[in-house]
Amino acid sequence: MVIAIDGPAASGKGTLAKRLALYYGLPHLDTGLLYRAVALTLLDAGRDLADEAAAAAAAQSLSPDFLGDPRLRGSAMGEAASIVSAQGAVRAALLDWQRRFAGAPAGAVLDGRDIGTVVCPDAAVKLFVTASAEERARRRHRELGGRGEPVAYEAVLADILRRDARDADRDAAPLRVAEDAVVIDTTSLDAEAAFRAATRVVDGRGGERG
Ligand code: DC
Repeated sequence: MVIAIDGPAASGKGTLAKRLALYYGLPHLDTGLLYRAVALTLLDAGRDLADEAAAAAAAQSLSPDFLGDPRLRGSAMGEAASIVSAQGAVRAALLDWQRRFAGAPAGAVLDGRDIGTVVCPDAAVKLFVTASAEERARRRHRELGGRGEPVAYEAVLADILRRDARDADRDAAPLRVAEDAVVIDTTSLDAEAAFRAATRVVDGRGGERG
């Protein structure tokens, strides 16, 4: 069974995807990491994030070993990933990679922005995980403070709003809710309640614990 999870930055989709993968015994791919890795490759090579030829080449030669690099985490790389991910050639280069992952015999859980709409349009389960921008900013603000990276709440909110706009307004695979997706709004749900809501949807589509 393929479980496709999409949603905006800091909506809780990554945490939910990991838990669902563990619970149903499926492999998990955080597709945001692929775009982050392309951005980091460009920055390491001293290239501009808007350099489309260099970005496409980086996406074509992406190595899975690179996905564990701790520099991929953090909001600066998220912002850089959002810029390279608007390029059609980058998206095309990463598409096969993601589809191969989703084609694993037992299925897989993938989370990102276009999984239910473009990467796995036939996924058995599609979830769209969202929350108000203010709540997502509060969570990100708390997380950064906890990691010893204090930033003003207003700056975090501005960053989230800018990223939402870029991810939703681009021409190539913009962030949107797939027609057959179930929306889980986590504004007033904790991680446990979001997980329970998601398992109800998966179980209703014939999901079985692995
Ligand atoms: O989920 P994330 O914050 O790690 O994603 C970083 C950026 O990568 C996000 O702002 C847009 C892009 N992205 C994308 O365009 N498509 C995906 N499937 C996943 C991420």
